[in-house]
Amino acid sequence: MSNPLVSIEDIPEDTTFLLTLRHVPSDELREAILVRTDRDVRCYLNNCQHLRHVKLDKGDGAVLRDDEIVCVNHGAMFRTEDGHCTHGPCRNSVLEGVAIDVRDGRVHLTDSEYEFEHRGTADSNDDPSSTSNVEF
Ligand code: FES
Repeated sequence: MSNPLVSIEDIPEDTTFLLTLRHVPSDELREAILVRTDRDVRCYLNNCQHLRHVKLDKGDGAVLRDDEIVCVNHGAMFRTEDGHCTHGPCRNSVLEGVAIDVRDGRVHLTDSEYEFEHRGTADSNDDPSSTSNVEF
Protein backbone atom coordinates (compact mmCIF):
# COMPACT_ATOMS: atom_id res chain seq x y z
CA MET A 1 0.00 0.00 0.00
CA SER A 2 2.84 2.44 0.82
CA ASN A 3 4.91 3.96 -1.95
CA PRO A 4 8.64 3.37 -1.70
CA LEU A 5 10.64 6.38 -0.50
CA VAL A 6 13.92 5.39 -2.06
CA SER A 7 15.86 2.42 -3.23
CA ILE A 8 18.24 1.16 -0.59
CA GLU A 9 21.11 1.78 -3.01
CA ASP A 10 20.28 5.49 -2.91
CA ILE A 11 21.29 5.69 0.74
CA PRO A 12 25.01 6.36 1.05
CA GLU A 13 27.06 4.23 3.41
CA ASP A 14 29.04 7.14 4.81
CA THR A 15 26.35 9.73 5.48
CA THR A 16 22.58 10.20 5.72
CA PHE A 17 19.82 10.62 3.14
CA LEU A 18 17.56 13.59 3.78
CA LEU A 19 13.86 13.70 2.99
CA THR A 20 10.82 15.70 4.00
CA LEU A 21 7.68 14.20 5.49
CA ARG A 22 4.32 15.68 6.35
CA HIS A 23 3.27 15.09 9.95
CA VAL A 24 -0.38 14.23 9.37
CA PRO A 25 -1.88 15.27 12.75
CA SER A 26 -0.34 18.76 12.62
CA ASP A 27 -0.07 19.11 8.82
CA GLU A 28 3.53 20.32 9.34
CA LEU A 29 6.52 19.46 7.22
CA ARG A 30 9.27 17.65 9.10
CA GLU A 31 12.67 16.60 7.85
CA ALA A 32 13.85 13.05 8.40
CA ILE A 33 17.05 11.17 7.71
CA LEU A 34 17.57 7.66 6.45
CA VAL A 35 20.72 5.99 7.69
CA ARG A 36 22.17 2.57 7.08
CA THR A 37 22.96 0.23 9.94
CA ASP A 38 24.93 -3.00 9.72
CA ARG A 39 22.13 -4.87 7.99
CA ASP A 40 19.21 -2.50 7.80
CA VAL A 41 18.03 1.10 7.44
CA ARG A 42 16.63 3.42 10.11
CA CYS A 43 14.70 6.66 9.86
CA TYR A 44 14.84 9.49 12.40
CA LEU A 45 13.57 13.03 12.50
CA ASN A 46 16.37 15.38 11.54
CA ASN A 47 16.66 17.12 14.90
CA CYS A 48 19.38 16.97 17.51
CA GLN A 49 18.04 16.22 20.98
CA HIS A 50 20.22 18.90 22.60
CA LEU A 51 18.76 21.87 20.73
CA ARG A 52 15.80 20.58 18.77
CA HIS A 53 15.97 23.24 16.07
CA VAL A 54 19.48 22.10 15.10
CA LYS A 55 19.52 19.73 12.17
CA LEU A 56 21.80 16.70 12.12
CA ASP A 57 21.81 16.72 8.32
CA LYS A 58 22.06 20.32 7.18
CA GLY A 59 21.40 19.42 3.56
CA ASP A 60 24.58 17.70 2.50
CA GLY A 61 24.50 14.63 4.74
CA ALA A 62 25.17 14.19 8.44
CA VAL A 63 28.57 13.18 9.74
CA LEU A 64 28.81 9.46 10.59
CA ARG A 65 31.54 8.05 12.79
CA ASP A 66 31.78 4.45 14.00
CA ASP A 67 28.09 3.68 13.41
CA GLU A 68 27.01 6.90 15.10
CA ILE A 69 25.46 10.10 13.78
CA VAL A 70 27.43 13.13 14.97
CA CYS A 71 25.84 16.50 15.66
CA VAL A 72 28.52 18.91 14.54
CA ASN A 73 27.22 21.72 16.75
CA HIS A 74 28.29 20.34 20.14
CA GLY A 75 29.42 16.80 19.39
CA ALA A 76 26.46 14.70 20.47
CA MET A 77 26.65 11.17 19.04
CA PHE A 78 23.62 9.01 18.29
CA ARG A 79 23.79 5.29 17.50
CA THR A 80 22.51 4.58 14.00
CA GLU A 81 20.95 1.36 15.28
CA ASP A 82 18.51 2.85 17.79
CA GLY A 83 19.08 6.62 17.92
CA HIS A 84 20.43 6.47 21.46
CA CYS A 85 22.76 9.33 22.37
CA THR A 86 26.00 7.88 23.75
CA HIS A 87 27.99 11.08 24.14
CA GLY A 88 27.49 14.82 24.41
CA PRO A 89 25.21 17.33 26.12
CA CYS A 90 22.04 15.27 25.51
CA ARG A 91 23.57 11.94 26.53
CA ASN A 92 20.98 9.15 27.00
CA SER A 93 18.35 10.95 24.97
CA VAL A 94 16.98 9.19 21.88
CA LEU A 95 16.31 10.46 18.39
CA GLU A 96 12.67 10.43 17.40
CA GLY A 97 12.15 7.49 15.07
CA VAL A 98 9.90 7.15 12.05
CA ALA A 99 8.62 3.67 11.18
CA ILE A 100 9.87 2.29 7.88
CA ASP A 101 10.10 -1.10 6.28
CA VAL A 102 12.58 -2.39 3.73
CA ARG A 103 11.06 -4.66 1.09
CA ASP A 104 12.52 -5.77 -2.22
CA GLY A 105 15.44 -3.38 -1.79
CA ARG A 106 13.21 -0.36 -1.26
CA VAL A 107 12.44 1.69 1.80
CA HIS A 108 8.72 2.10 2.55
CA LEU A 109 7.19 4.51 5.02
CA THR A 110 4.93 2.57 7.41
CA ASP A 111 4.40 5.25 10.05
CA SER A 112 0.74 6.30 10.01
CA GLU A 113 1.66 9.73 11.42
CA TYR A 114 3.67 10.67 8.34
CA GLU A 115 3.29 11.01 4.59
CA PHE A 116 6.15 11.37 2.16
CA GLU A 117 6.53 14.88 0.70
CA HIS A 118 9.81 14.97 -1.20
CA ARG A 119 13.50 14.27 -1.07
CA GLY A 120 15.78 16.94 0.38
CA THR A 121 15.16 19.77 2.81
CA ALA A 122 11.71 20.99 3.78
CA ASP A 123 12.15 24.22 1.84
CA SER A 124 13.27 22.56 -1.35
CA ASN A 125 11.93 20.00 -3.72
CA ASP A 126 14.91 18.44 -5.37
CA ASP A 127 13.31 15.11 -6.10
CA PRO A 128 14.26 14.50 -9.72
CA SER A 129 11.46 11.98 -10.08
CA SER A 130 8.83 14.52 -9.08
CA THR A 131 7.17 16.36 -11.92
CA SER A 132 4.31 17.76 -9.87
CA ASN A 133 5.50 21.35 -10.29
CA VAL A 134 6.56 21.04 -13.88
CA GLU A 135 4.39 22.49 -16.58
CA PHE A 136 4.78 21.63 -20.23
S1 FES B 1 22.79 21.05 19.10
FE1 FES B 1 23.45 19.01 18.77
S2 FES B 1 24.89 18.69 20.34
FE2 FES B 1 24.18 20.71 20.70
